[in-house]
Amino acid sequence: MNEIKIVGVVGAGQMGAGIAQVLCVAGHATLLFDANPEALRLGMSSIHQRLNQAVDKGKLAADVRDSAKQNLTQANSLSELSSCDLVIEAIIEQFDVKASIFKQLDAILPPTSLLASNTSSISITRMAATTSRPDKFMGAHFMNPVPVMNLVELIRGLQTSDETYQRVQALCTSIKKTTVLALDGPGFIVNRILCPMINEAIFLVQEGVAAIDIDNAMKLGTNHPMGPLTLADFVGLDTLLYILQLFHRELGEDKYRPCPLLVKYVDAGWFGKKSGRGFYTY
Ligand code: CAA
Ligand code: NAD
Repeated sequence: MNEIKIVGVVGAGQMGAGIAQVLCVAGHATLLFDANPEALRLGMSSIHQRLNQAVDKGKLAADVRDSAKQNLTQANSLSELSSCDLVIEAIIEQFDVKASIFKQLDAILPPTSLLASNTSSISITRMAATTSRPDKFMGAHFMNPVPVMNLVELIRGLQTSDETYQRVQALCTSIKKTTVLALDGPGFIVNRILCPMINEAIFLVQEGVAAIDIDNAMKLGTNHPMGPLTLADFVGLDTLLYILQLFHRELGEDKYRPCPLLVKYVDAGWFGKKSGRGFYTY
């Protein structure tokens, strides 16, 4: 089995930057690209800053940090990813935008290269079918914050080959992540369970319960590290709404209807922590 050595990451937001960080620390040549130059600059600098902090806290050796920085390259165009063995996509949670990126990557990469999506909810089979290499396409769903969370959900599309699955699984092992195999259905495992729970918490806010009381209840009452509304702000309310809209559309049941208060917040540009305002102010 061919080892994956050079990895491209498209999208330098909270997930893409986290994925690039764990890859370069583990010794993979890593190229990070974002269509927005400012997001790319911020993504690169957040990785450098977190690596420096880890050294200051005594959690990372200075020489590992230095080689991680050397392993990481800022790509200023998608075509700079042409040497990658694998490209992981971590851009906005919208099928058409992702499909357009995969079409471009399909044209740029050699036919042997693999493609993976970090989507939270969208069908892997459907995205794979927009490329000429559905056998070399799969889902690799990292958890936020990537450097801290141990899990990667792996999702095989209808046409994903055994070899693709095994190579991506080996890559996850090389970056010290534990994998689970999920079905290619809306939200896979984690989000299918987590997002309806968060949506229910938002309905409670809409009914008049204070966000802080809901969060404290779930933290102290069920030992969750973050309450559901803090977690919603952390994930991004725009991303959460895309996921719930997809559940409602594709699973066809009213229980997945996004809470109107969530829709209102996203309409207002309140995306949570990343925009400075959500259920809390940052
Ligand atoms: N990026 C990188 N590292 C981060 C981070 C971030 N955004 N936030 C915190 N950390 C690191 C800190 O640097 C610290 O590292 P060290 O132990 O090495 O010093 C460590 O995490 C703990 O941080 P803190 O002590 O500041 O804070 P904490 O103890 O409250 O933990 C947390 C923070 C790990 C985020 C914790 O609150 C937690 O586990 N929250 C739940 C996260 C969760 O459920 N994630 C899954 C979301 S769902 C998903 O990802 C799927 C999807 O598709 C939406
Ligand atoms: P984000 O908003 O922090 O970052 C998305 C980045 O993609 C932005 O920097 C944006 O400039 C860039 N982008 C948008 N369109 C692009 C394009 N056409 N080409 C290149 N770059 C483009 O979002 P995020 O939270 O990092 O989420 C990214 C993906 O990861 C989504 O599919 C999301 O569902 C998934 N995900 C999110 C979480 C989470 O907790 N936020 C967890 C797991 C998976």
